[in-house]
Amino acid sequence: MRILSGIQPSGALHIGNYFGMMRPAIALQAEGEALYFIADYHALTTVRDPETLRANSRRVALDFLACGLDPERATLFRHSDVPQVTELAWILSTVAPMGLLERAHSYKDKLARGMAPTVGLFNYPVLMAADILIYDSDVVPVGKDQKQHIEMTRDLAVKINETFGQVFKLPEPRINPQTQVVPGLDGQKMSKSYGNNIDIFGDEKEARKRVMSIVTDSTPIEAPKDPEGSTIVQLYSLFATKDELANMREQFKKGGTGYGDFKKELFEKLWEYFAPMRQRRQEILRDKSYIDNVLSKGAKRANEIADQVMERVRKAVGLR
Ligand code: AMP
Ligand code: TRP
Repeated sequence: MRILSGIQPSGALHIGNYFGMMRPAIALQAEGEALYFIADYHALTTVRDPETLRANSRRVALDFLACGLDPERATLFRHSDVPQVTELAWILSTVAPMGLLERAHSYKDKLARGMAPTVGLFNYPVLMAADILIYDSDVVPVGKDQKQHIEMTRDLAVKINETFGQVFKLPEPRINPQTQVVPGLDGQKMSKSYGNNIDIFGDEKEARKRVMSIVTDSTPIEAPKDPEGSTIVQLYSLFATKDELANMREQFKKGGTGYGDFKKELFEKLWEYFAPMRQRRQEILRDKSYIDNVLSKGAKRANEIADQVMERVRKAVGLR
């Protein structure tokens, strides 16, 4: 089984990224050949400062490694170290129906948030399909927001197979129902672009401040509170044991504890959860060449697979 996923280096990683994609991806590295990449070509659709893009890319590699990606088992690489994906994206774009791309939620969301409608933004799902198909991927661990992109990848693979014969495998999304949408401070999907994120490796004071600013209703301290749909309880469930979670839900229903106290409990759990990863991060930072070595080894392996698949594709469509 080949497992593949990508993450954009568009800023600091948050706990939505961690539970939605990184933790499942790290768990899957024991189950097959895993390839994880830093989607710098994709980030070019939003990041326009070269130094920022370079720094963010290294930072994503560092954070992913600190969270448990094991470079002995999984391949970690930069998207742009496999430039053949852009060739495959072109080939896919020649069969991609405009209507399919026009229906993409993420494109429509981005325009609704005021981003300029560039061709790159519109074509994003085609490049993402190339990212997946170029490694003959079987399984793609992602959060729910990426589901449609994977369906589009399958549609494009089918189009190529119908037109040129059996060229591509059809990949399956792997979406964990418990963590498919991690809520942010305002209860919406946690996202850097909504400003409702809690970062994995943020500063302690800032993280505490953010947790304390989770939006709640105004039920007074003494009154019973509804744990269903509470952002505090949802986030707490990511970190707490079953008993701890049951206990918080009990306390909610009983009344007598204010939201501030629940938020403090949540912060303590969250901070403790990431402590070993913070330590691992410091260790990695001490070894100046570690990240470069991991990425160059990763690029080599990713290129081996991509070159083989591209030979097959070029032959199938008549470019060789
Ligand atoms: P992005 O930051 O958009 O590159 O997202 C990287 C990965 O994290 C993707 O697989 C997303 O589906 C996942 N992800 C991002 N935000 C969330 C969230 N709030 N809940 C669950 N998964 C998320
Ligand atoms: N679009 C994904 C996101 O924004 C990142 C991504 C790019 C990706 N290419 C991919 C994820 C291929 C999985 C597989 O989160």
